[in-house]
Amino acid sequence: MSISVDLRSVVDAIAPARTVTVLTGAGMSAESGVPTFRDVQTGLWARYDPMTLATPEAWDDDPALVWAWYQRRRAMVTAVEPNDGHRALAGWARSADIRVMTQNVDDLHERAGSTEVVHVHGSLFACRCDTCGRAYEPEVVDLDTDRIDPPECDCGGLVRPGVVWFGEALPQNAFAEATARAEAADVFVLVGTSGVVYPAAGLPHIARAAGATIIEINPHETDLSDACDITIRSTAAVAIPAIVDACTS
Ligand code: OAD
Repeated sequence: MSISVDLRSVVDAIAPARTVTVLTGAGMSAESGVPTFRDVQTGLWARYDPMTLATPEAWDDDPALVWAWYQRRRAMVTAVEPNDGHRALAGWARSADIRVMTQNVDDLHERAGSTEVVHVHGSLFACRCDTCGRAYEPEVVDLDTDRIDPPECDCGGLVRPGVVWFGEALPQNAFAEATARAEAADVFVLVGTSGVVYPAAGLPHIARAAGATIIEINPHETDLSDACDITIRSTAAVAIPAIVDACTS
């Protein structure tokens, strides 16, 4: 896919910037082949609605089912690689103040070399006890079964996925840091998000109110497109490397 905008306007916006904050969504990982909720729903999982699995009620009702589903998603993410967009962002941060935050629960930014990534919706790889909150590292297994008993914590609680479920509050520290990064941005780049899930979708508005230039990278128009100063109708793995190349060469 080509880039539909003259990069000159992007370079002119980024050149004088001290801080560039980047918020990514599911589209960032699309070219890595990370399955969305629906893609996971094949074979054994076709009969389950992802929107009901990613809820506290599902966990209370059938923790073994929910744990197995997240084990499958962890295994599917582990089986793919970061794409050129992830890698370009990580490389850019070695020569500029690039602050990455993501709505994604995969670890592809980290595996591409980005550090201090803020996960506003948690992470598949940061499990915790559902009772005392103790952190646990999940092992990655891909048993083709729809029930796996979650590990038990020493306190008697169950180890749950460290992701934000529908109806749950965002991790306070993560969202506070994300807000600070939005306020600190001279340029705020939105990559691969439909911008429909708040409060994360409010971050570009915070950046704009603080005077940032907003750039959107998305092959399609979104609910946030009108709030952006520059929209690049291209994909993450094509547009980000082109922008980094134009800004650093
Ligand atoms: P969505 O699936 O809502 O939107 C993905 C966006 O990526 C769409 O706007 C696509 O046009 C765009 N897109 C697709 N392929 C792309 C590519 N190769 N490069 C760039 N963009 C591409 O995903 P999110 O906006 O991330 O919340 O969804 C936000 C939240 O909704 C998720 O974090 C999740 C979900 O409920 C929780 O899990 C709490």
